[in-house]
Amino acid sequence: MATALVTGASRGIGRAVARRLADDGHDVALGYAASADAAGELAAELRALGGRAVAVGADLADPAAADALVDAVEAQLGPVEILVANAGVNTPGRRVEEISLEEWDRLHAVNLRAPFLLARRVLPGMARRGFGRIVLLSSVAAYTGGIIGAHYASSKAGLHGLAHSLSQQASGDGVTVNVVAPALIESDMLPGGPDTRAALAESLPVGRLGRPEEVADLIAAVVRNGFLTNQSILLDGGRHPT
Ligand SMILES: NC(=O)c1ccc[n+]([C@@H]2O[C@H](COP(=O)([O-])OP(=O)(O)OC[C@H]3O[C@@H](n4cnc5c(N)ncnc54)[C@H](OP(=O)(O)O)[C@@H]3O)[C@@H](O)[C@H]2O)c1
Repeated sequence: MATALVTGASRGIGRAVARRLADDGHDVALGYAASADAAGELAAELRALGGRAVAVGADLADPAAADALVDAVEAQLGPVEILVANAGVNTPGRRVEEISLEEWDRLHAVNLRAPFLLARRVLPGMARRGFGRIVLLSSVAAYTGGIIGAHYASSKAGLHGLAHSLSQQASGDGVTVNVVAPALIESDMLPGGPDTRAALAESLPVGRLGRPEEVADLIAAVVRNGFLTNQSILLDGGRHPT
């Protein structure tokens, strides 16, 4: 089994991914920004079940944080062999003329620059050791533009190019790089109250919202599969065929 770093593991999808990778027998580092208690509680729960798990704080808007996060994880659990770059931020639906430079930069810093910095830090070691898995969390917005705004769609679309480039470099060394792009998963990030959520659920062919555990299940399969690389997988309840 391997050592996994899951960013944004305090809540939502990342929390479910960390739990699932631990269930599958991996050692897990849970990255968080503000939710220290939630991340720490999950790490303690996973340790109580017999696994190795640590929670490590890092504000990935800070360009120095990615290397520091991996350094801290590797000091406690050993080399990162699985990276799930999941941490992400959005701001509510906006017309392009309402997006400030600060918002644009912040979303790109967390959603796109941090995955690049994390991959840059872990990929050479993975390649040297002949094994690695990198999974980047995109969004349906990368394909359609989505409902958040140009800043979010752009930051997510950039992950696809990043994955293609990393995959070309590393797949021959046993390192797979893939993108998982969810949509309308029940989490804090989903916009609106109960009525909005119900309408969003009805708009999907499957007739309901997705669950964080369903994203985690797909990511676990991506991690297991050494022949799957350079792919983007959309998980959206059937709305957009790719
Ligand atoms: N939910 C959906 O329907 C959906 C759809 C498409 C794509 N996605 C993508 O899936 C990923 C997970 O989304 P989610 O729905 O689980 O979101 P969420 O519930 O809002 O959780 C976001 C996670 O990212 C972390 N995070 C936020 N800012 C950070 C920063 N500056 N540095 C480090 N960590 C930071 C948060 O940590 P703290 O709690 O510590 O602040 C939290 O763990 C995101 O990349 C998102 O864009 C989600």
